[in-house]
Amino acid sequence: MTEAELYTLYKGVYLPSHLHPPQSLKYYEDFTFRPDDVIIVTYPKSGTTWMQEIVPLVMSGGDPASVETLPNWDRVPWLEEHRACVLNLEERPSPRMFSTHFHYNMMPPGFFKVKPKVIYVMRNPKDVFTSSFHYYGITSFLVKPGSQSEFLHKFLDGKVMFGSWFDHVKSWLNAEDKQHIMYICYEEMIMDLKDSVARIAQFLEKPLDAEVVEKIADRCLFKNMKQNNMSNYSMVPCEFIDQTKSEFLRKGIAGDWKNQLSEAEVEHFDAVYKDKMKDVKYKFVWD
Ligand code: A3P
Repeated sequence: MTEAELYTLYKGVYLPSHLHPPQSLKYYEDFTFRPDDVIIVTYPKSGTTWMQEIVPLVMSGGDPASVETLPNWDRVPWLEEHRACVLNLEERPSPRMFSTHFHYNMMPPGFFKVKPKVIYVMRNPKDVFTSSFHYYGITSFLVKPGSQSEFLHKFLDGKVMFGSWFDHVKSWLNAEDKQHIMYICYEEMIMDLKDSVARIAQFLEKPLDAEVVEKIADRCLFKNMKQNNMSNYSMVPCEFIDQTKSEFLRKGIAGDWKNQLSEAEVEHFDAVYKDKMKDVKYKFVWD
């Protein structure tokens, strides 16, 4: 199926229509935030699910109850998704935890008024591309990726769900009131998960003992999270996400793009990256 059949163009970016019907987008536009809400913000395939495991564990002081009993999409629901309207989020006790893939400029008015805490996770776009290429191949609600070179062009042009990686990252890096935003890279979490958990806890004003940090980091290791049926998407029917072809928690490493992209594709990617990111001052670990 084509973009026209599967996607809705919303505020200039493609959204999979199946997951984001108009009433869900309206619900998000009118959403009332609280100052102690925590919002995980990502471009898709940048480590959303990973953060949906870490943040609840940090907020609960290491109590695994929620990550053992609630699927990640109920535990830290996406505000733009069809489920948000039926989860009674207004009734949830504080502090609430949400996810979103929205660009900064797509966020609803209530967000700018209340300024809740945001954790913005970024990942090397070549690995985001690689992860996306596999993911688009196994989902029924996304346009099939086609050949790798076709998908690369679409990805670099932002003709994919949630638009351009470059626009997404730049929008959040240029956000106003940065004191309520924590920026962290997937690669930093790969390099030192304990330190990342400790920094997240500090940002969320949840002081944790070293043993608790260690326990959380251990639970959130790729090999352990992969075993958690509440986080590995095994509850999603095969006709939506066919994990017999490629798992949702696929490789969980930094640098898999080296196994995926040809030399010419890397050269092209680098040229586009250099141009699109020329005004960005942020020092990414992958640069
Ligand atoms: P790969 O496809 O490269 O393996 P999202 O949750 O934003 O959709 O991102 C999915 C990516 O994050 C997948 O990348 C997945 O394997 C990876 N991921 C999820 N949990 C992880 C963990 N605990 N450690 C490392 N990577 C993880």
